[in-house]
Amino acid sequence: MTDRREFLMKIGLGAGVAGIATQGAASLRSLIPNVSYDAPTTVKVGLPAEFPDGLKFLPDQRLFVFREGNVYHAISAVCTHLGCTVRAEALSQPETMTVEGAPLRMTHRFHCPCHGSRYTGDGATVSGPAPRPLAWHHLSVSPDDGQLVVDLAREVSRDFRLTVA
Ligand code: FES
Repeated sequence: MTDRREFLMKIGLGAGVAGIATQGAASLRSLIPNVSYDAPTTVKVGLPAEFPDGLKFLPDQRLFVFREGNVYHAISAVCTHLGCTVRAEALSQPETMTVEGAPLRMTHRFHCPCHGSRYTGDGATVSGPAPRPLAWHHLSVSPDDGQLVVDLAREVSRDFRLTVA
C-alpha cells in the first residue's frame, strides 16, 4: 500500500516538474520575437529615368544619387562626425577630377550644419571634425521592375559606377 502511494506521488511529482519546465520554456520562447524588426538594407528608390542629371537627394535614405547620362553613383548624406545630415552646395563651376583612378565630374560639395565639417564632391573630408569621408553605397538595378536599388549596408570604393543600359 505504501509502495503504491509512494509510486503515485512520484508520478505526480514528475508530471508537475515536467509541466513547470514546459511552461518555463514556453515563457522564455515568448520573449524572442518571431519576426525581425531590422530595417531592410536594400531599398528601391525609383526608376533610373526618374533621376535628373546631376544630383537628387533622397531624405528617407539620407542619400545623394548622382546621375551623369546613364552612369550613377550614390553618396551618403550622413556626416561621419556625429551623424547629422550634410547639405549639398552646387559648385559655381563643375570640375572633373580623377578619384581612385576613375574620372568623376563633381557638381557639388557638402557641408554639415552641425559642427561645420566640409567635404568635397566625392565625399572626401576637407575640414572640421568629421573623421572619415562620406560613404559611397552600392547601386544596382532590380531585375523585377528596373528600379534603382541602393544597399545602405554595403559601402563601395569611390571608383564605383553603375552604368544602366
Ligand atoms: S555631425 Fe557633422 S560635423 Fe558634427
